[in-house]
Amino acid sequence: MTNTKRITSQSVFSFGIASLAAILLGCTLAASAQAPVPDSPAIEAKAHSMVAKLTLEQKIELLGGMDGMFTHAAPAIGLPRFKMSDASVGVRTWGPTTAYAGGVALAAAWGPALARKTRESLGKDARARSVNFLLGPGVNIARSPIAGRNFEYLSEDPYLNATLVVPFIEGVQSQGVIATVKHYAVNSQEYNRHNVSTEVDERTLREIYLPAFEAAVTKGHVDAVMNSYNLINDVHATQNEFLNLKVLKGEWGFPSILMSDWDATYDTVGAANNGLDLEMPSPRFMNAKGLLAAVKDGTVKESTIDDKVLRLVRTALRYGFLDRPQFDPADSTYSVADRAIALEGALESLTLLKNEGHLLPLDPAKVKTIAIIGPNAYPAVTGGGGSSQAQAFEPVSILTGIANLLGPGTHVLYSRGLPEMNDIFRNTHWEGGVKMAIFPSGDFTGTPETATLPTLGEFQRERRGPRDETPHSIRYTASYKAAKAGKYLILAAFQSWGGDQFTMTVDGKQLAMPPHVEGQVPPFWTLDLNAGQTVNVVAECVTRSPGVRFSMGITYEPELISAEAREIAAKADVAVVAAGFTSATEGEGSDRTFALPWGQDALIEAVAAANPHTIVTLTGGGGMDTRPWLGKVPALLHTYYPGQEGGTAVAEVLFGKHNPEGKLPVSFDRSWEENPSAAYYYPVKGADTALHVTEPGRPPVDYVIPHVKYDDGLMVGYRYWTTTGKHPLYPFGFGLSYTTFSFTKPAVPATAASGSTVPVSFDVTNTGKVAGAEVAQLYVSDPSSKVKRPERELKGFKKVRLAPGETKHVTLNLDARAFSYWDAAAHKWSINPGKFVILVGDSSENTPLKAELTLK
Ligand code: BGC
Repeated sequence: MTNTKRITSQSVFSFGIASLAAILLGCTLAASAQAPVPDSPAIEAKAHSMVAKLTLEQKIELLGGMDGMFTHAAPAIGLPRFKMSDASVGVRTWGPTTAYAGGVALAAAWGPALARKTRESLGKDARARSVNFLLGPGVNIARSPIAGRNFEYLSEDPYLNATLVVPFIEGVQSQGVIATVKHYAVNSQEYNRHNVSTEVDERTLREIYLPAFEAAVTKGHVDAVMNSYNLINDVHATQNEFLNLKVLKGEWGFPSILMSDWDATYDTVGAANNGLDLEMPSPRFMNAKGLLAAVKDGTVKESTIDDKVLRLVRTALRYGFLDRPQFDPADSTYSVADRAIALEGALESLTLLKNEGHLLPLDPAKVKTIAIIGPNAYPAVTGGGGSSQAQAFEPVSILTGIANLLGPGTHVLYSRGLPEMNDIFRNTHWEGGVKMAIFPSGDFTGTPETATLPTLGEFQRERRGPRDETPHSIRYTASYKAAKAGKYLILAAFQSWGGDQFTMTVDGKQLAMPPHVEGQVPPFWTLDLNAGQTVNVVAECVTRSPGVRFSMGITYEPELISAEAREIAAKADVAVVAAGFTSATEGEGSDRTFALPWGQDALIEAVAAANPHTIVTLTGGGGMDTRPWLGKVPALLHTYYPGQEGGTAVAEVLFGKHNPEGKLPVSFDRSWEENPSAAYYYPVKGADTALHVTEPGRPPVDYVIPHVKYDDGLMVGYRYWTTTGKHPLYPFGFGLSYTTFSFTKPAVPATAASGSTVPVSFDVTNTGKVAGAEVAQLYVSDPSSKVKRPERELKGFKKVRLAPGETKHVTLNLDARAFSYWDAAAHKWSINPGKFVILVGDSSENTPLKAELTLK
């Protein structure tokens, strides 16, 4: 819809100055009626005059959210409240929606145009639900494969993130919806995310963790930023002067709204004076009680409050929020066109990692019987868990996607292969039930509340408030009698806030808990039992959480994989095992394991043993452990979380209707231990500090602050692998196609002035027999650098779509930043003149074509 359509002669008179200024400016608004207009003297004058009409109390009221997902209104100046929604894969919070390939899947598509297109649709979906703020994109660096929210974020590479975040934001904001880049900053783990202090040096911050935020602000002109939960170098993000005032609002000139993550604020004066504009979801700290006193005693200036309110009002004027309804009936709540866009996103992201003997693409005419097996085959797994989890309209599962593509002539057999986790919890027969004792202390002292439960599945104890100051301890005691001799799996599931402690013993022996078992993936252990043997299980938990989910159960391992799964695998021409994570096993609030969820390795092995034509599809936010079975299966397809059309996309790729074109946006490690961050992932032992927090009107709370030292520094993902000369299982940027491509040697000028833009050009040819897309990747190496730098860094890429035999010429321009490093002593970007090597290829490891250049 164009602007002209929306403005009638009558409505012009009721339009605010912002809109009139926009009409006069013409530019952005001419392209779309919805897009925000740039700031202008007229908008500034109007915003100032509106703020001047508010009392201090009214201004303070605007600094905190309300009703979970709204800003406060200021009726005195006609400012309505603004509605928010989470947004990583679809417009969450307000009912069902179209779920697109989001986060890491979108990054695997390496397509700025696709990012723009899908996010325009997301913006329209938001308007159709009256949403003013979309709480995304998340752009934290995927530093470790176990980090629970990688699926919402983009990649391990700052350049790829910085490139994709711009069209992402432009797409959303072009529809008159504010995008919110999050979580600022260095929130690359979920483990203890509320309390942990991330210790990171400035060079690593600038080169790895900040570029996507910088691009979001300086190139994408994002109008909201969300601070993270964690502390950065000992200071909470929401009161971090360096990040918020010096960098974001100072160096990058961010003119709009800096909001907190939900309950991530810890200090009234600290937050008010260090850049936080909006405390979400409610003003626990930036409220009248705290701020009126602070203004009165001079610790917070009224002008500081005014600046925050101005940012909200200015942004609202620029978006025309005061002049038009946010609900736009021109945008469909459900649209078939959006389904096509969601499908495009999934198709472009699916990444083929293994295709031995060219098993794929399958010929639909030759597949008479297909076995589709595994917990991720049905229902569709569209996204991970937590605040991003959108309820998708009509999601297509892998099972239904394949069946739809093959049509009625093909015999489709399905088995989940494994029981549901909750069925194991529910079906475990505990002798005499599970005894539960809840103590009013953190050390199992005091008089407990007790109960006996028949089984233990998803226990949740509701407590007041988002977080309770006083710890309490829970003990579950149960006995299990083995009916048969053999191996038994004991499974447990925890979900809690970081910092809670869980322990389990069997017959007094503690079960080994790797540190990452706070993840939602149920940890499991094997017990060897005799027929009739009884074991005593004790599980303990010390927590401050508002609710604790704890479940446990025992199952007989030889009966874990269903007989049907083995049978149908053996009968079929080809078997697909859909494995990986789901919203129940990978999501916000905790990290996940590197190993696949329980039973899946054994399931893949069993199917592969029954059928040599076994294809594995994986769902998840990044790498996972494939060692137990990779050598036994000929084909592997990574689907990330492909959104609601994922099943159709998988079918189209497996049967060659679409040539796979996704490229890994993260290095795919063999093991979690070999990931460069593994040694530095958890807090330094014995380095905890205490934090005393006083929330206005509530008793003070002492928090324990663990410290995580990012001593892997710049060596994140492929930077580590290429610098050390070692190799992950599959490198960053890798992905197979059904065709082949060739590149010519890149042409670069022999010399150039430091700071000038350097063009690099080369040809890409499709040398195979089918159409396909290749992502040409350009890495820069600085061998003559005086400071230690990663061996190579991605500084350009281009997705090229080619018919068989076709060649396209690609030119990529390298700006000054492409050659720069952050000079820690001078606190600025610098270039070391001298020799640079330009490497071009199809992954971070396969760059056979090089050219040299000297910067003077
Ligand atoms: C998440 C944010 C999210 C917010 C609102 C928080 O728990 O960390 O990413 O936007 O909730 O749902």
